[in-house]
Amino acid sequence: MAKETWKPGTMLYPVPAVLVTSMYGKTVNVFTVSWVGTVCTDPPMVSVSIRPKRFSYDLIKKSGEFAINLPGKDIAFAVDYCGVKSGKDIDKFAKLGLHPVQASIIKAPIIKECPVAIEVKVESVKELGSHHMFLGRVVAVNVEKSLIDNKGKLRLDKANLLCYNHGEYFSLSKSIGRFGFSVRKRKGGKNVRKVHTEK
Ligand SMILES: Cc1cc2nc3c(=O)[nH]c(=O)nc-3n(C[C@H](O)[C@H](O)[C@H](O)COP(=O)(O)O)c2cc1C
Repeated sequence: MAKETWKPGTMLYPVPAVLVTSMYGKTVNVFTVSWVGTVCTDPPMVSVSIRPKRFSYDLIKKSGEFAINLPGKDIAFAVDYCGVKSGKDIDKFAKLGLHPVQASIIKAPIIKECPVAIEVKVESVKELGSHHMFLGRVVAVNVEKSLIDNKGKLRLDKANLLCYNHGEYFSLSKSIGRFGFSVRKRKGGKNVRKVHTEK
């Protein structure tokens, strides 16, 4: 591979494209977020970076909570729409036919149509520049019952989750290998292979 060097910018891809729901008083909103990530396993912590001008920004700042809803490819249209239209102007839930449902701990709703919804309480906000990073603790995780197999395992591979890759949405459908496959013994062969490179 021969590389060109570019000026600094955002180039960490693929990233998730999630629907973040929030509520303050009676105002409920949903918007699309890609600058989102898990930042600690124990305690489970996440970060979401938000531009202060987003309608959701104040709702989250004032309420101190939000939910991260993981969408499947079946609602990709809604994911894009919630990322270009503001709750300042329209009720995105009503417009798209998304159903807000009661979360287990936080007041903000979660989205019925999303197979996973993560409830978060904000612990701190760091003003980074264009975006302010909300660091939050996961207080509950809600998973779609039909994705739990008869051994109690969550089959997220069946959820057709979305990701965002440099301006385009992709669905995750084909598994390439299970965690640790690179070091697991293969039948009748060596486990570690060299990466194939052209000569
Ligand atoms: C794929 C995608 C990812 C986005 N990621 C972010 C993000 O991480 N942070 C952010 O502030 N806005 C992000 N946006 C933009 C907001 O979702 C968009 O401005 C939205 O209309 C804000 O909604 P609101 O004003 O109702 O809060 C993203 C948009 C798209 C389409």
